[in-house]
Amino acid sequence: MPTSSESERLRNVHVALGYTVLGLLAFRLVWGFIGPRYARFSSFVHSPVAAFRYLRDEVRGCAPRYVGHNPAGSWAVFGLLILGVATGVTGYLNFNEQGGESMEDLHEVFASAWLVLVGLHILGVAFSSLMQRENLVHSMITGFKRGVAEGTEPRNARGVRLAMVAGILGFWGWTANSGGGAPGADPGQGEQSELATESETDDD
Ligand code: HEM
Repeated sequence: MPTSSESERLRNVHVALGYTVLGLLAFRLVWGFIGPRYARFSSFVHSPVAAFRYLRDEVRGCAPRYVGHNPAGSWAVFGLLILGVATGVTGYLNFNEQGGESMEDLHEVFASAWLVLVGLHILGVAFSSLMQRENLVHSMITGFKRGVAEGTEPRNARGVRLAMVAGILGFWGWTANSGGGAPGADPGQGEQSELATESETDDD
């Protein structure tokens, strides 16, 4: 199976999806300061000791229930945000031929570490859902959870979700309309220009 760096088309899809992820991360970072109570970073800052203790209690089946992020989950959220931004930024620098091979390696290392953490996070969510007997994936999607205090539930959640979907579809449409070329591409250089010349010749 070819990797996305082996074809211009796949690479453009890769870059467009990478920018989409960066956009979603930027939104989540802002939301962490202005969003509803349980989405704010200030509501889920926990020490590493608290996270460890929570994991231990979870395995023993006596972990307390949190309406917001539990201490272990909160570390996963911060890790996912940091690794996601690092992956996107190194991908951008790599794409713009900055930092040479070490940037390429760094991008792959961040991407791999990120995917490992995504996997661990999914396992953690599934395990917590079983232990706490509630569907946490549903809460992650809707933003609602049993026990949310009056007045702290997410407001305009549907509007925010619609705006996000519209923004993503608009961005993809714009990317596709600009000849499939991902933003930030420099068609005047290297392999890109060779591929562009090939497709121009094909059109003739
Ligand atoms: C944020 C989510 C991203 C993930 C999970 C990710 C993941 C990966 C992985 C696993 C590779 C190595 C395999 C391959 O060549 O296809 C790779 C390569 C690459 N990525 Fe990303 N990437 C992301 C974002 C980006 C962004 C935003 C850009 C550019 C703006 C980008 C540009 C590149 C380029 C140019 C390569 C090829 C490196 C080479 O020449 O081998 N990536 N990425």
